[in-house]
Amino acid sequence: MYLATMSNVENPTEKTLAELGVHTPEEVTTLFVELREKANKEQRWIDKPDKFEQFRVKWIGRKSGILAQVTENWLKPADVDLKRIVGQVLNEFRSHLQRLVDQAQQGLDVRAGQAADVRERVDLSLPGVIRPIGSHHLIRQVFQQIEDIFVSIGFSVVEGPEIETPYYNFEALNIPEFHPVRDDMDTFYLELPKGAAVPLLLRTHTSPMQIRTMEKQKPPVRVIVPGKVYRRDNPDATHSFVFHQVEGLAVDTDITFCDFTGTIDYFVKQFFGPSVKTRFRPSYFPFTEPSVEFDVSCPFCGGSGTAAGGGTCSKCKGAAWIELFGAGMVDPAVYGFVNYDAKKVSGFAFGIGIDRLAMLKYGIDDIQVFFQNDVRFLRQFP
Ligand code: DAH
Repeated sequence: MYLATMSNVENPTEKTLAELGVHTPEEVTTLFVELREKANKEQRWIDKPDKFEQFRVKWIGRKSGILAQVTENWLKPADVDLKRIVGQVLNEFRSHLQRLVDQAQQGLDVRAGQAADVRERVDLSLPGVIRPIGSHHLIRQVFQQIEDIFVSIGFSVVEGPEIETPYYNFEALNIPEFHPVRDDMDTFYLELPKGAAVPLLLRTHTSPMQIRTMEKQKPPVRVIVPGKVYRRDNPDATHSFVFHQVEGLAVDTDITFCDFTGTIDYFVKQFFGPSVKTRFRPSYFPFTEPSVEFDVSCPFCGGSGTAAGGGTCSKCKGAAWIELFGAGMVDPAVYGFVNYDAKKVSGFAFGIGIDRLAMLKYGIDDIQVFFQNDVRFLRQFP
């Protein structure tokens, strides 16, 4: 007996067509139409991933999904004359189920997207996150000022290693072993594995870059070298075991002492202001000849030595001049180390202590503040 619908049969897909009393193509089609409507109805209820998964497994699950049952129980045992139509309608049914699953998946994706939109919506009326913006350290700022001045008159900026060999730090700068100036540069040697070819040390000045630059490049040379240097000094208001220098070097075929003093005077006026004066005094460095020490007229008392309200100026202690840095004409012996022809070239060099310069310019009386990085200090130089 044919059952007009399968609504009154429990789990019709677990039975064969013969058991369901289905014998004609029309009856087969009706069976599938009812199944399809059931699937449609269930698919409409999917609103969460777990319901989707239940639906998917129930209908197209490989092992015991309804689709698998239909194949197993309706198609395989079907009479020869029904098999073709069952196969055909089953194929359509399979595509239909796949479509339902795909649509449900898309629906869920859209829902998830909408939920994320709500969650992540930016409320522009809320106050923002305020991140404090840092600034360059005062030493970095002074480096920059010095670089700008020298770059504007044709110098380039180069940097070098903070770990040096004695050759570059001393010998090639005309400071042989046992030369007394090495005492002033007592410094940190690195502990190296036994048998290391050369000793290494933290550079005591930026001057080694004079040698490294001239080794690499033929004249003309115009460079400045900003960087950190190290000496075994005990920390106090004017000493630190690490500090900063800017080395300068200009070598060409026709550089005179006038070019030298003119360049330094230009730099000092640019840095401190046009009203300062410069002077130089004889000094000694093994790598310059003659060597000088440059002074600037005290920028605080206008070079008078007296304070505004009378009495002596506290900055220059009444001297009217402040010692700035060492410099000189490059010693011909140095050219010998870099294969420059000392008869053809001449030049000048200088080594500026940046911490000291910054302290002078900004009225800072303790070098240690540069290394403590207390924001209350740093904030004063935005
Ligand atoms: N290297 C010297 C020091 O650290 C400073 C110096 C003096 C550099 C004279 C120079 C120079 O280039 O010409 O004490």
